[in-house]
Amino acid sequence: PARKQIVSAIQPTGEPHLGNYLGALKQWVSLQDQHDNCVFGLADNHVFTSKITAKQVRQNTLKQTAVLLSLGLDPDKVILYKHSAVLQHTALAWLLSTAATSGLISKLRMLPQYKEKSQVHDNLGLLTYPVLMSADILLFHGTHIPVGEDQNIHIEFCNSIAQYFNRAYKCEVFQTVSQLLTTSPRVKSLADPSLKMSKSYGKASGVIGMLDTDDQIRKKVKKAVTDSFGPITVDQDERPGVYNLLLLLSAVSDTHFREVCRKYEYRNVVELKNDLSECLVGTVGPVRDRALELLGDIGYVEKVLSVGAEKASEIAEKNLDSIYRTIGL
Ligand code: ADP
Ligand code: NA
Repeated sequence: PARKQIVSAIQPTGEPHLGNYLGALKQWVSLQDQHDNCVFGLADNHVFTSKITAKQVRQNTLKQTAVLLSLGLDPDKVILYKHSAVLQHTALAWLLSTAATSGLISKLRMLPQYKEKSQVHDNLGLLTYPVLMSADILLFHGTHIPVGEDQNIHIEFCNSIAQYFNRAYKCEVFQTVSQLLTTSPRVKSLADPSLKMSKSYGKASGVIGMLDTDDQIRKKVKKAVTDSFGPITVDQDERPGVYNLLLLLSAVSDTHFREVCRKYEYRNVVELKNDLSECLVGTVGPVRDRALELLGDIGYVEKVLSVGAEKASEIAEKNLDSIYRTIGL
């Protein structure tokens, strides 16, 4: 059997949040000890589809790197780099795009993220970002992609475009990619439980940032939107806000969801909120403090990224070369 190649990335849109941590980053840290070839990226190329200055992207990238390091990601065990420092990402994206014909192009127009973001922003990247995302994975021949389940649709797209490419160039350049599903569910916004917790959309008050102060965390949980149905019952459809709080407590405290439900059923929502607050403060607090300390030594964080970029570039160059040779260039 072919070897596993772990590849994943996070967009430096803002600060990483609890959803990123539970859905992906927590896994990255545990994977680094199980595999000697993890490639983890700061997907800064993707952030330019939003209205944001390059300077902001740069600052977010450093912040996110600091959080990743403070979570325990070890740059000696994994390759940690920013995508824009490795030009092969965009070169491969172009090549892939030439293999995507009308079937795939119509899929691009159907993607929820395109529909949502094109209401706010206006550029071609909003439509074609899944091609770049596919290149981000295929450049390293990723086979296992630790991302949250909200990314299913992108992994499917990546597999499709890889097949289109193999067919177009009549060769077996790319194999099938699979997704490492987290045991953690999709976390919803505290301000609007119909939206996922995301730095890309939704009110900031609904997102617990990994750099939030204890006070901010407590305030956001206190203000979390629930309902007026009284004591806690478990009902995802009728009481999505309460349900999300239970899910969060289960994920952050590493306790089975059913156990959490049993403990809180018929109790007051305020009690649940208080316990969740303290649990979050206990988890996020130390990560934040270490990250802020690291950000005080920005030279170190920059050095980590430049060493990572060198390692990533070496592999990317070799792989893109070999892809060019396989198709006959
Ligand atoms: P965002 O949507 O906040 O911009 P990214 O697109 O950068 O986040 O995703 C980074 C990782 O975090 C992905 O693996 C994604 O699956 C995961 N993730 C993002 N939001 C959530 C969420 N609300 N619940 C679980 N995982 C999430
Ligand atoms: Na996203």
